[in-house]
Amino acid sequence: MSKKPVQKKQDPETTGHVWDGIEEFNNPLPRWWLWTFYVTIIWAIGYTVLYPAWPGLTGTTQGVLGWSQRADVEADIASASEKLAPINAKLEAADLTAISSDAELSGYAASAGAAVFKTWCAQCHGSGAAGAVGYPNLLDNDWLWGGDIEAIYATVKHGVRTEEDDDARYSEMPAFGVDYLEPEQIDSVVNYVMSLSGDPVDASLVAAGGEVFAEECTSCHAEDGTGDREQGAPNLTDAIWLYGGDYDAIKETVSNSRYGVMPSWGSRLSEAQVRAVAAYVHQLGGGE
Ligand code: HEC
Ligand code: HEC
Repeated sequence: MSKKPVQKKQDPETTGHVWDGIEEFNNPLPRWWLWTFYVTIIWAIGYTVLYPAWPGLTGTTQGVLGWSQRADVEADIASASEKLAPINAKLEAADLTAISSDAELSGYAASAGAAVFKTWCAQCHGSGAAGAVGYPNLLDNDWLWGGDIEAIYATVKHGVRTEEDDDARYSEMPAFGVDYLEPEQIDSVVNYVMSLSGDPVDASLVAAGGEVFAEECTSCHAEDGTGDREQGAPNLTDAIWLYGGDYDAIKETVSNSRYGVMPSWGSRLSEAQVRAVAAYVHQLGGGE
């Protein structure tokens, strides 16, 4: 049972709220608290006048100080690139083949190139550069277009089969299934290609496939099937495959061709960045 507590004379007014017999006194707020509260209101108004604050239909209010986080970042970037300007200039002026023997340049190219690679290349070639189906592995010694620093630089700068750049690496394997070869010819040449690095699915077709190969394929892949870097035609005798080395994958390549495209990086990156990433790829392990 609860009974209403007796209000004593000297007690302040109550708010009328009672919980389990405990009454709430209507005391004034402490002075220090109240003043702190007013100060925060004034500070907040001042802040919204000075800095970007209120959202509107076309953007936020900009604040009379004109400060923005973006401008801060831009200033940071500008000061960083100013600091790097001398080494970038040195990198741009250097002979490509001399980069690896200059400790300062090769160290800088390795770290700057790694950063470029993570940002611009990893989505296709993988963050470790090991590639994926259709995107070459850049760690091995198997190069489509050449693995010395100058060849890598040219591939990266101008791209592959891209219309963005007139100097892009270019070649086009015909889609043999569309116009040129009968299904039996494709079947046999696929078996021949498989026999170059491993086992065909039907050994009885290899000889006939060799004839088709000699007629249709050697202009790019060479008589022995080892490929031609001038045309970016892969070596078919190693067991390294860009698009897959099983029967179905090879049949798809021969029937419909693949036409792998890489963007041209010369138009997106600075000369120093292209050189840095080319040097980075070159020293990954497969460089010649
Ligand atoms: C949109 C996907 C894509 C991106 C992004 C990309 N590449 Fe490529 N890259 C390819 C393809 C596809 C090929 C193979 C083209 C072919 O069939 O010849 C290739 C080929 C290459 C080659 C030639 C390999 C060889 O064996 O000769 C190099 C070197 C290379 N890329 C480096 C880079 C670098 C460095 C970057 C970043 C600046 C980059 N790539 C970004 C798709 C990409
Ligand atoms: C005009 C040059 C050219 C001719 C002719 C040509 N190829 Fe190719 N071939 C290429 C190029 C370039 C590639 C690289 C793939 C691309 O287009 O992205 C390739 C890729 C391939 C691949 C894929 C290799 C891999 O690693 O995945 C196979 C298999 C292949 N060719 C087989 C053949 C066969 C079989 C013939 C003849 C019927 C032939 N090619 C004729 C240029 C040619």
